[in-house]
Amino acid sequence: MDPTDALALLMSPEGRLDPYPTYERLRAHGPVVQAGPVFYVVTGYAEADAILRDARFGVMDDALRDQFMPGWRESPAVVSISRSMLRTNPPDHSRMRRLAAGAFTPRRIAAMRDVVRAQADELVDAMLAADGPVDFMAAFAYPLPVGVICALLGVPAADRPLFRRWATDLTGVLEPEITADELAVADRGAAELRSYFTELVAARRRAPADDLTTALVQAHDGGDRLSGDELLANLIVLLVAGFETTTNLLGNGLVALLDHPDAAAALRERPDLAPAYVDELLRYDSPVQLTSRMSTAPSRYGDVDLPPESWVIVLLGAANRDPRRYPDPARFDPWRAQIAPLSFGAGPHYCLGAALARLEAQVAFPLLLRRLPELALAGRPERRVRLTLRGHATLPVRVGREAAPVTVPGTPPGAAGPTP
Ligand code: HEM
Repeated sequence: MDPTDALALLMSPEGRLDPYPTYERLRAHGPVVQAGPVFYVVTGYAEADAILRDARFGVMDDALRDQFMPGWRESPAVVSISRSMLRTNPPDHSRMRRLAAGAFTPRRIAAMRDVVRAQADELVDAMLAADGPVDFMAAFAYPLPVGVICALLGVPAADRPLFRRWATDLTGVLEPEITADELAVADRGAAELRSYFTELVAARRRAPADDLTTALVQAHDGGDRLSGDELLANLIVLLVAGFETTTNLLGNGLVALLDHPDAAAALRERPDLAPAYVDELLRYDSPVQLTSRMSTAPSRYGDVDLPPESWVIVLLGAANRDPRRYPDPARFDPWRAQIAPLSFGAGPHYCLGAALARLEAQVAFPLLLRRLPELALAGRPERRVRLTLRGHATLPVRVGREAAPVTVPGTPPGAAGPTP
């Protein structure tokens, strides 16, 4: 199959539901292939990593958006994303990233561990209380990340269900192709989020709190420039980039663990293995499958010359399964040497929330396996027909009985067992 047809297959519902066979068809033509006049696709790990770090490549800027997406200025969804650091090039990107990273401190993230654990425990309690099978996506994979990011941003608990819907609507705009109807849905989500955050920002200006929204408002007010529009766009991107991605890591990861009961049993016994497991889960079935870049100068990758103004789709999910980087890449193996998934990207746009996402998954999986040793699929998981953000619409599970509390030698009777 030639690369253009393989790319068309990838964009089709069939290709979106299971992109991995199509990645191999593309890979058969080399790690970088031309799939249109100025259009290239990257499946190689080394090439993807290098292109994302290469200053000759940037994200699509306003001039190119005007060329490729006329009318984008009328879309609140595209405007919101394009004013954020995710879709900005230096020098604006470096300034925004510095200001946001200053608010996203390791101390603030580390302090979230107890919040994550408490929220995960509450969600497991509710799953145990349900009568019969539950949808893991609705019961755990959505509410945990949305609860965590809302706690970080200072969004009151009562508003979280609204957020979930608006954020999910808006993420349609991250797909490589979007219909007019999907764009209208994304626009509605963006408009709601903009008006919500406008009020939250005004409230934090009146009464600062110890949260990320206040930290970003103060970074703006502190003189070094996040414009009002940039502040809103970056708050929205933190929410959108931070929540559905992590939801999909929890859903994809649970399916992989249930498919590999021996590996799951090993993690149940050894929660300290969680960091390696989570990185292998990220590699094996990446929650973000692709990103894109425009080139500003000529370059050469994988024996292919890329002229300026080439549009390059970097298939992170394919790079993570490059056999030149990972032997037997389709096998889930948390014991592999040097797992370094490209699921969080690389270079200047490397995911700002990677530490938080890893923390959530490293707490959640051992906790689920420990408290729910009988957890099993209760029906066929249904995938969403999306390529960029790969995850499930529904994931029916049988929760089973809760494990008996474990007493750790040396702890007083009645004290809690080991926690991840
Ligand atoms: C498993 C979960 C996650 C995955 C797989 C993921 C993936 C990614 C990827 C691939 C990028 C780079 C996009 C590009 O280069 O074009 C990115 C950027 C970003 N992510 Fe994440 N992300 C996750 C969780 C989070 C969380 C929890 C947050 C925040 C709370 C977050 C915030 C961001 C931000 C702000 C950016 C833009 C950084 C920049 O442009 O400089 N992400 N993420």
